[in-house]
Amino acid sequence: PGWVLALRNGLSNLGLPDEFLERLFSRWAGSGSGGRLKIPQARGSVDAVAGQAFFIPLYELFLTYGGIFRLNFGPKSFLIISDPDIAKHILKNNSKAYSKGILAEILEFVMGKGLIPADGEVWRVRRRAIVPALHQKYVAAMINLFGEASFRLCEKLDAAASDGEDVEMESIFSRLTLDIIGKAVFNYEFDSLTHDNGIVEAVYVALREAEMRSTSPIPTWEIPIWKNISPRQRKVSEALKLINTTLDDLIAICKRMVEQEELQFHEEYMNEQDPSILHFLLASGDDVSSKQLRDDLMTMLIAGHETSAAVLTWTFYLLSEAPEVVAKLQDEVDSVLGDRFPTIEDMKKLKYTTRVINESLRLYPQPPVLIRRSLEDDVLGMYPIKRGEDIFISVWNLHRSPKHWVDAESFNPERWPLDGPNPNESNQNFSYLPFGGGPRKCIGDMFAKFETVVATAMLIRRFNFQMALGAPPVEMTTGATIHTTKGLKMTVTPRTRPPIIPTLETKVVTRDRDLQLSSTP
Ligand code: HEM
Repeated sequence: PGWVLALRNGLSNLGLPDEFLERLFSRWAGSGSGGRLKIPQARGSVDAVAGQAFFIPLYELFLTYGGIFRLNFGPKSFLIISDPDIAKHILKNNSKAYSKGILAEILEFVMGKGLIPADGEVWRVRRRAIVPALHQKYVAAMINLFGEASFRLCEKLDAAASDGEDVEMESIFSRLTLDIIGKAVFNYEFDSLTHDNGIVEAVYVALREAEMRSTSPIPTWEIPIWKNISPRQRKVSEALKLINTTLDDLIAICKRMVEQEELQFHEEYMNEQDPSILHFLLASGDDVSSKQLRDDLMTMLIAGHETSAAVLTWTFYLLSEAPEVVAKLQDEVDSVLGDRFPTIEDMKKLKYTTRVINESLRLYPQPPVLIRRSLEDDVLGMYPIKRGEDIFISVWNLHRSPKHWVDAESFNPERWPLDGPNPNESNQNFSYLPFGGGPRKCIGDMFAKFETVVATAMLIRRFNFQMALGAPPVEMTTGATIHTTKGLKMTVTPRTRPPIIPTLETKVVTRDRDLQLSSTP
């Protein structure tokens, strides 16, 4: 009933801890009501959901039915969560009672028991092994990698700009982040920005298949004979075989490197020639089967590739409609970076650029929903639920909820004050969770933020981007992340910039270089 919810919210506003309120009210809801409370059920919704990016009609249903409702889809039933307290309960306070459910089933063919789909003991052991690999020194080294890859992209765009060609930026961003994550995770040069090869093609075949499976109502790929006769499924098997052998080779190469090293493993261990996560794992003596290692590498490849690409795509789309934001961005980048490559110290200074990424992640969260399954009976808000419920936490709804955001639909980086904290799920009380929350929170959040900040800064410093004349309208479709339906076609023009006034720092650098040059014979 409404008054109970109001009481709970009132107590919460008075500062009583969520954990305490949860215990208090769950007892009331579960036994006091005799479990009679029934979750609102959305009606007439199946037709509305079919045939478009499914998280969009879920938003309308959220406005009608509230922060928790049930949706029946054929024989299947889902709980849709758009309430920050319930999201926090599932992801953090009682996370042990939830698994990845359908997500693990869908992704099994490509990620096996990698960190995203894994549950229970496998997840615990692997998370403990992998997280230390993304230490501070590693992330600092990655800033150089982001800068170099973004620089190569700038060179490619230079050519397009001088030829007067329009550029489809969504696929460009996908290639940029593929090149980055390949080097970062297993020291592999996909070089997909400059050419296509078999392995790049194979990664895309696997990705498209994962996306198709996550949105297809009938799992045809589970029919045994289908695997052998469907050309599409045969292509998927071949792609996976190629990726697996490539990964096996990379693991073998890295093992040999580690064996030849005079190894002194410590907390912030990093090999300068090969700072990859794989190298860290092997050097740490991580006792793991090669199948598990492969699953983890593949998982990180996919997790760190499509997400970052989607963030850049939607950021540039948003920027194309907000020239005043672009002007501020360019001012910040000019004064912080000048003509230099970004460093880890700059990440603190590029505050407005970071706010632009924060705001892009609010409007276009990647992925737009998080998937869970209850492993035991539980109580969500006021409602008892049974074991085995499939649950979608709509991050899209949380991030656009009129209850929590002023002018929720508008792109306004200024909503995050520059002198305020960097927004995350904790300081926004689970109304904002671009990287999830609780024990299953993204392990690459810092990596991804710096990657997207560096790429955005380096691109807008050098070019102006506009939607191309006659470009198709930008509409959404979804797989694991939000894609455009027809690409993001942009006109890229070199930026004419006011001259940079050299600061003391750049003068010193110039003098150093002069000295070096003069001492060269
Ligand atoms: C998990 C978002 C980049 C690796 C997650 C989750 C989200 C997320 C929302 C939680 C999923 C859930 O609770 O079901 C993002 C976004 C990224 C990004 C928006 C880019 C902007 C990366 C990168 C890596 C990575 C670069 C790898 C270096 C992972 C892994 C998990 C994960 C391994 C699973 C963690 C676990 O279950 O223990 N990510 N991610 N992500 N992410 Fe990211």
